[in-house]
Amino acid sequence: MRKFIIDTDIGSDDAAALIMAMKNPEIDILGITTIGGNIPLENTTRNALQVVEECKKEIPVYKGADKPLKRDLVTAGNVHGKDGMGDKGLIHPTRKAEEKNAVDFILETVKKNPNEIEIAVLGPVTNIALAIIKDRETMSKVKHIWSMGTAGFGKGNMSPVAEFNVFVDAESYDIMLNSQIPVTIAGFDLCLGDASFTPEELTELAKTPLGKFITDCNSTRLKFNEEITGTPYVDLPDAVAMATALYEDVITEKIEAYCYCCTKEEATYGQVIIYDISKPYTVTYNIPKTNTTVIKTIDVDKFKSYLKEALK
Ligand code: BDR
Ligand code: CA
Repeated sequence: MRKFIIDTDIGSDDAAALIMAMKNPEIDILGITTIGGNIPLENTTRNALQVVEECKKEIPVYKGADKPLKRDLVTAGNVHGKDGMGDKGLIHPTRKAEEKNAVDFILETVKKNPNEIEIAVLGPVTNIALAIIKDRETMSKVKHIWSMGTAGFGKGNMSPVAEFNVFVDAESYDIMLNSQIPVTIAGFDLCLGDASFTPEELTELAKTPLGKFITDCNSTRLKFNEEITGTPYVDLPDAVAMATALYEDVITEKIEAYCYCCTKEEATYGQVIIYDISKPYTVTYNIPKTNTTVIKTIDVDKFKSYLKEALK
């Protein structure tokens, strides 16, 4: 059975991803680690505990970093709601987080299960960077990291070039990309258009208790998208990323790439430049070697049907 740790700044779309993973009988989730991101750490931890309870599971939750490596935390309560879950009064967990810190949990778990642990990272990657800084040798035995991050081959959502999870802590993303751990990236470009949910599709999803929970959690997101684009829809980037981690047939095209994370200049802070090594470049940057797999396209119908299945 595949062994997973899920690292999350949960958050409305993270909640959908977490349910998708917890409802999959073919993986073993050894723990959920939280991080400040969409909202502060205290909220992301409460939200993780609540979603575990909604799924009637006993998976332990570990608190991680409350801020990025070098910068102040940037949050996105305007997208997810002040509580990160649509401000519908849904969050009242009865359990508490474990005493152990997320970074220590990650390191101990990898040590106990060398080359077996896959980590799905659904927020800023600060916990991963801290684990690499603390014990690079142990982290070299992580089997795979699945990252929801970067603008992919499209535009950013924080700046023209930067996507939220990288923008919050680009220094950490740079550390992860240079760690030599195998990383697969699902960028923000995969999550819009047909991959997002119309109000009609959301009404359909809301017919089950978990579906109702998820549509309520994403109600602020629906309003936010309508305000900024004029069209009501809900995109679920973390659920897309989780689907690519769990189900090979969701990925229809991917490339091996060298990814470079910009950290030095404000205008490009958090941009990830993707060098497709199969393409000839006229002016070549000094590409050491490929460090990531980047997903180019997904089967949207499969993604949506896996999510619907999980919410049943
Ligand atoms: C990512 O940023 C967060 O707002 C979402 O939870 C997702 O992980 C999308 O850019
Ligand atoms: Ca997230």
